[in-house]
Amino acid sequence: MPKALITGPTAGLGRGFAEALARKGFDLVLVSRDEHALQATADELTHRFGVRCEVVPADLAVREDIDRVAALLASDDDPMTALVNNAGFGLRTPFLHTSMDDEQALLDVLVTSVLRLTHAALPGMVARGSGMVINVSSIAGLFPGGTYSAAKSWVTVFTESLAVQLQGSGVRTTAVCPGFVRTEFHERAGMDMSQTPDWMWLEVSTVVDQAFRDLAVGRPVSVAGPQYPAFARILQHGPRSLVRRFAGVRGTLSRRGD
Ligand SMILES: NC(=O)c1ccc[n+]([C@@H]2O[C@H](COP(=O)([O-])OP(=O)(O)OC[C@H]3O[C@@H](n4cnc5c(N)ncnc54)[C@H](OP(=O)(O)O)[C@@H]3O)[C@@H](O)[C@H]2O)c1
Repeated sequence: MPKALITGPTAGLGRGFAEALARKGFDLVLVSRDEHALQATADELTHRFGVRCEVVPADLAVREDIDRVAALLASDDDPMTALVNNAGFGLRTPFLHTSMDDEQALLDVLVTSVLRLTHAALPGMVARGSGMVINVSSIAGLFPGGTYSAAKSWVTVFTESLAVQLQGSGVRTTAVCPGFVRTEFHERAGMDMSQTPDWMWLEVSTVVDQAFRDLAVGRPVSVAGPQYPAFARILQHGPRSLVRRFAGVRGTLSRRGD
């Protein structure tokens, strides 16, 4: 059986990727903090798809935990065919109003863990001549929206760079760049999304299915939904001054009197 390691599989997009991979016949290694939720996810996926699920409780903001997960990915004993770097969270307050610890944890989960887990997984995949790495980024990486956007911008460019370096290796990689997705993300961050129009929301399955389609044809950046590809092009190619205005960064700071 092929085997996949997924970070953040207990909710939202990670749960969608775990389910899709189980449906494709992958055994799973599930990594996030809440051991109870991990076990419940594992039990359900085993029951529905007959795959083996191993649970690895780990906080990906903690270096020792990241290194423990990296060791699993680097091991040749039971090689991993797929890695999905998905775990993540957002911060509700702008940079000047967020604690340094929260900003650091954000970078550690969104960037450091993606860097170290990918670095651990790739040599074995390349040596075996096959594998896949899916890095969940965001369309937010295309505009100036604080540390979160900067981190996601790193994830997208990092993944595109890997796609270039991995050409001909048999290993595929895609940066998944969704717009708004119906998950626990915004509620967990305490964000009020009541003003976000319905048409802007994507379902988890839309994002996950598009990611696998793009991976299959070697497209390094995956933007799901009918509404977001055009939006992404505007963000990438429109005047930067307009993009900054859209992001509302200055407005947010000045509203707070900074
Ligand atoms: N929802 C959106 O609109 C949207 C849009 C673009 C991109 N994204 C990205 O999609 C990814 C998944 O987000 P989601 O929307 O599915 O969020 P979600 O529903 O809140 O799920 C987040 C998952 O990440 C895990 N996680 C959070 N912090 C962690 C940590 N420190 N260590 C280990 N695991 C951690 C959570 O489990 P535990 O709490 O048990 O650890 C949970 O399984 C994130 O990278 C996010 O930035 C989301």
